[in-house]
Amino acid sequence: MTQPIESTKSNKPVIAVLPGDGIGPEVMTATLPLLDWVQDKTGLDFDVCEDAIGGAAYDRYGVPLSDETLALCRGADFILMGSVGGPKWGPAGLDLPYDKRPEAGLLKLRKELDLYANLRPALVFDALVDASTLKADIVRGLDILIVRELTGGIYFGEPRGIETLANGERKGVNTQSYTTGEIRRIGEIAFELAQKRSGKVSSSEKSNVMESGLLWREEITNLHQEKFSDLALEHIYADNCAMQLLRNPGQFDVIVTDNLFGDILSDEAAMITGSLGMLPSASLGEVDQMTGRRRALYEPVHGSAPDIAGEGKANPLAMILSLGMALKYSLDLPDLAADLDRAVARTLDQGLRTADIAESDSKILTTQDMGRAVLDRL
Ligand code: IPM
Ligand code: MG
Repeated sequence: MTQPIESTKSNKPVIAVLPGDGIGPEVMTATLPLLDWVQDKTGLDFDVCEDAIGGAAYDRYGVPLSDETLALCRGADFILMGSVGGPKWGPAGLDLPYDKRPEAGLLKLRKELDLYANLRPALVFDALVDASTLKADIVRGLDILIVRELTGGIYFGEPRGIETLANGERKGVNTQSYTTGEIRRIGEIAFELAQKRSGKVSSSEKSNVMESGLLWREEITNLHQEKFSDLALEHIYADNCAMQLLRNPGQFDVIVTDNLFGDILSDEAAMITGSLGMLPSASLGEVDQMTGRRRALYEPVHGSAPDIAGEGKANPLAMILSLGMALKYSLDLPDLAADLDRAVARTLDQGLRTADIAESDSKILTTQDMGRAVLDRL
C-alpha cells in the first residue's frame, strides 16, 4: 500500500466496539473474549470502548451515529462493528427518513473516516466445501479477495433524492460518479495486495454502458502501465464477473470494483464460501499523520439478519475472522491472525457448526458456543 500498514504506537490500544443491531450484539459478544486471548499472548492492554451505532444509536441518541461516537471512533486504534439495520426503523416500522436510518450511521462512519478500501476475502475452508451451493470441485481451495471502493460512487453521489414531477409522477435519483483520484487510490491498494498474492487483478465495471465505468477502466489501465506492469490485469464487465464467479470462481484472485458492484459481488462470493456468515471484512483509510495509525474498521459482511436475531443461531465466524483481520492490519500481529484462522479451520474440521453451515451429521452450536469452541482451540 502507498504507506505501510503500521503497528500501533500506543501500548494501550483503544478499540471502539459497536455491536449495532439484529445479530450484531450476539456475534460481538461471542468475539470479545478473543480479545483477552490476544492480551494474554501479547501483553497488550486494550481499552475497549463500547457504543451504539445504527438503530440502537437512533433509539439511544436519536441519530444513527452520534458526534460523540464518531469522535470515539476517530480516536480509536480500530473499530469493531457488528451489523446495522432492521424492520423496526424501516418502512414497516418507524419509516425513518434515509438520513436517520441505521444504514446511514455506518455510511457516515465510512465516509467521515475516509475508509475507502474495503477488503473482503472469500475463502473456502476445506471442511465447508459441501456447505456451498456450488459443486465441491468448483469451490475447493478457493481464495479470492474482493477490493471494494467504499466511500464513493452511487452510495454518495449527488444529486440524489425523490422528487415529484409536474405531471404528478415521482422520480427517484441517485448519481454514480468517480474521480481519477478515487479510482487510482483503490487501484493502488488492489495492485499492492495482488503483489503479495498470485499477481492477478480483475477490474470490474460497466464501461460498455457507463462513463464512470469507462473512466474506471482507463485509470486502472494507466496505473497498471505506470507502476504495476509486472502484474496481470484483466477488465471484466460487472455482469460477466457475477456470472463467472458462479461458473468458475477459481479464475479470480483480486477483484477490484466500485462501491455498488462490490456490495453485490461480495455477497455472491460469500455464498460461494458456504454462508454469508463466513465472510469478514476490513475497511481501511489512510495513515493518520497525527497518530501514525491507519484508520480501520472491521465488520462481518453479513447484515443484521433480524429474522434470527436474539435466538443464538447466528454464525459468529465472520465477526471472529474480522477480528483476525484487525490483528493483521491494525495490530501487526500476522502470526496471531494465522493462529486464529487455523483455530476456526480446526473447529470446522471437527464438525462443529452453526445452523447456516450445518450438514446432516454436524453438531449444531449456538452463537456463543461457537465463539467458545474457537477460543478452546486456541
Ligand atoms: C455491506 C452492507 C452495507 C452496504 C449496508 C448495511 C449499508 O450491505 O457492508 O455490504 O450496502 O455497504
Ligand atoms: Mg452488502
